[in-house]
Amino acid sequence: MSDRKTLLRVTRRGLLSGAAGAATLAVAPRLMTPAIAQAAPFKVGLMLPYTGTFAKLGQFIDDGFRLYVEQKGGKLGGREISFVQIDDESKPEAATDNVNRLIGRDKVDLVVGTVHSGVAMAMVKVARDTNTLLIIPNAGANDATGPACAPNIFRSSFSNWQTTYPAGKVMVDAGLKNVVTITWRYTAGQEMIGAFAENFTKNGGKIVEQLTLPFPEVEFQALITQIASLKPDAVFSFFAGGGAVKFVKDYAAAGLNKTIPLYGAGFLTDGTLEAQGAAANGIRTTLHYADNLDNPANIAFLKAFKAKTSKDGDIYAVQGYDAAAMLDVGLTAVKGDASARDTLVKAIAAAKIDSPRGPLSFNKAHNPVQNIYLREVRNGRNELVSIAQADVDDPARGCKLT
Ligand code: BEZ
Repeated sequence: MSDRKTLLRVTRRGLLSGAAGAATLAVAPRLMTPAIAQAAPFKVGLMLPYTGTFAKLGQFIDDGFRLYVEQKGGKLGGREISFVQIDDESKPEAATDNVNRLIGRDKVDLVVGTVHSGVAMAMVKVARDTNTLLIIPNAGANDATGPACAPNIFRSSFSNWQTTYPAGKVMVDAGLKNVVTITWRYTAGQEMIGAFAENFTKNGGKIVEQLTLPFPEVEFQALITQIASLKPDAVFSFFAGGGAVKFVKDYAAAGLNKTIPLYGAGFLTDGTLEAQGAAANGIRTTLHYADNLDNPANIAFLKAFKAKTSKDGDIYAVQGYDAAAMLDVGLTAVKGDASARDTLVKAIAAAKIDSPRGPLSFNKAHNPVQNIYLREVRNGRNELVSIAQADVDDPARGCKLT
């Protein structure tokens, strides 16, 4: 048995052995804390896109996660945190090999990843097969907290359904009844447009045309010409990262921002505004975050993120930050002893986190329950208009966890 395992086992016996254990606890804490402190660092494997159209998203998640750990002095639950990272390039075909490398070669204790829904679903399969702890800090694939839900899988972000379902009613209420949708042809695009359409048509809206192009293509011109000739009341879209920058600029360059209001999932304008400039003014989106949320956690987070990175925080940074906060809750509950897996998992599942996005808790499938905000781009920021829907809980269709 390795020294580390010996130390952890002794510590757990002290914690768990009933009355004798309770008696020991009066003196044990001073013995226990050094034991865990001397254990090998808890190893976090960051599997994120550091190149490609989602590169900035991945980097901000990474920065947010590391910021939280730094604020806690490099330790969570008394246990030192170390990192390894891998660039998944948002390529589903490489995902299984990449995550297996983190788990098999690097022997990580937790995988944090990723941004792209297709890549995330490959990670979910490996995490289920190997019972590895996984926190998804962005990708919204509904199945990850639906039929593929598992005790060891959590999300600090959203389900694809969750972010856009509220927008269906928002647009009908704004008198926008004939809408063209446009997105990339892959899981996130299809699910976000699907959830929007579900609520939009239920409230009396009509989808005039559903336009798509392959991920991560950015040749939007022909589709924008088609939108101009269809003359809908509005457009609803999902794009993110570099693709979102290009779409918003092309839409404005064609003059459509003056005649056909552009709406979308908030990823269209989050982390992208500096590059989009005036082309983004007036775009309305729904998301679980707005830049000017006036709560102490958000104000402190934005200040600290700016001090660390010289950049303005966004939803991706918040999701990385909250993923670390979730790990903190879990490791604190077990005093750094991650082998007490059931206790660690139960603590995260029951967590109530004071997130920069507002109150954050988790449903039975380990997906966040959270407010979805309507935002508008003004003064280079995604400013809060209203709460589009409070405490939105993904239906977790197909999840068998109780
Ligand atoms: C996704 O693939 O799930 C995704 C990517 C970027 C932003 C939001 C969702």
